[in-house]
Amino acid sequence: MTDLSTLETDLTAQVAAAADEAALEAVRVAALGKKGSISALLATLGTMAPDERKTAGAAINQVKDRVTEAIGSRREVLKAAALDARLASETVDVTLPVRESPTETGRIHPISQVMDELTAIFADMGFAIAEGPDIETDDFNFTKLNFPEGHPAREMHDTFFFNPKADGERLLLRTHTSPVQVRTMLGQKPPIRVICPGRTYRNDSDQTHTPMFHQVEGLVIDKGSHIGHLKWILEEFCKAFFEVDSVKMRFRPSFFPFTEPSMEVDIQCNRQGGEVRFGEGEDWLEILGCGMVHPNVIRNCGLDPDVYQGFAWGMGIDRIAMLKYGINDLRQFFEGDVRWLSHYGFKPLDLPTLAGGLSS
Ligand code: DAH
Repeated sequence: MTDLSTLETDLTAQVAAAADEAALEAVRVAALGKKGSISALLATLGTMAPDERKTAGAAINQVKDRVTEAIGSRREVLKAAALDARLASETVDVTLPVRESPTETGRIHPISQVMDELTAIFADMGFAIAEGPDIETDDFNFTKLNFPEGHPAREMHDTFFFNPKADGERLLLRTHTSPVQVRTMLGQKPPIRVICPGRTYRNDSDQTHTPMFHQVEGLVIDKGSHIGHLKWILEEFCKAFFEVDSVKMRFRPSFFPFTEPSMEVDIQCNRQGGEVRFGEGEDWLEILGCGMVHPNVIRNCGLDPDVYQGFAWGMGIDRIAMLKYGINDLRQFFEGDVRWLSHYGFKPLDLPTLAGGLSS
């Protein structure tokens, strides 16, 4: 039995000396694991005479229980010590300034903001959003919109063409959002009320032109639509967009192949003092082109112009964004300068709504 008490003393010392939970676990496995020292003693019981087995078995099991208990209480002590050490090393200084969240530092680009504003205004008037691809066919960008082959209006668009395909067809980067009118009329039944915001491309670059820019197109096709509806919609839009109670508008005769009659719209403003104010003043500023959709376009899109009429307009988004937010060089929009964006950009969680304010 002296062997047994030596073993117990030895194991108890090892338990007490275990410095952390891993060391303690190693002691446990060496004593009580399958090949552990106490397990080995228990295995010898089978070879003993019944009497001897009784006393030896009881003695070994008592040692086993005491060692198990010693390991258990040592584990609690080590756990508590480990937790204390962690709490001491992981303290948080609650007086440190809070780091700004990404929603505070990120900014919405003014072009995206204006697109969201346009969407809010026209959605309120019952318009849906329609989209089309940036890469278009000549047919949708020009022919179906009543630009005859070789017509000088095609030249005015400074088109970026792709190399001809094997069959001779040349795709292009759309020069305006008007092809989305064609796609919408071909794909939907009237009544149609859509706006089509998107990227457009022309080979042009200076303070007021960039090769890629943005337009928004509007299209209404129905049975009784007339020019009075068009004027009302544009006036409501201008008041809502420029956030003024009234605007004076001037409709000047113009020419676009896809509308007849065609008009350009100016709004009255005051340019004194280096800034533009709407709803007052003696100056005029052109903001969009519009007209009644040409019967040829309606026919080209599979509808009967004797049954359906409609009107359309097209506007430069970058231009109205510059006017509204006092940005004087179009190219700044596309320079990707974060300092510029943090000055002119909008907070991401301030979504423009008519009720809550568009640009507040
Ligand atoms: N597509 C024309 C352009 O880019 C703008 C335009 C004018 C669109 C009159 C229209 C419209 O829908 O009716 O110059």
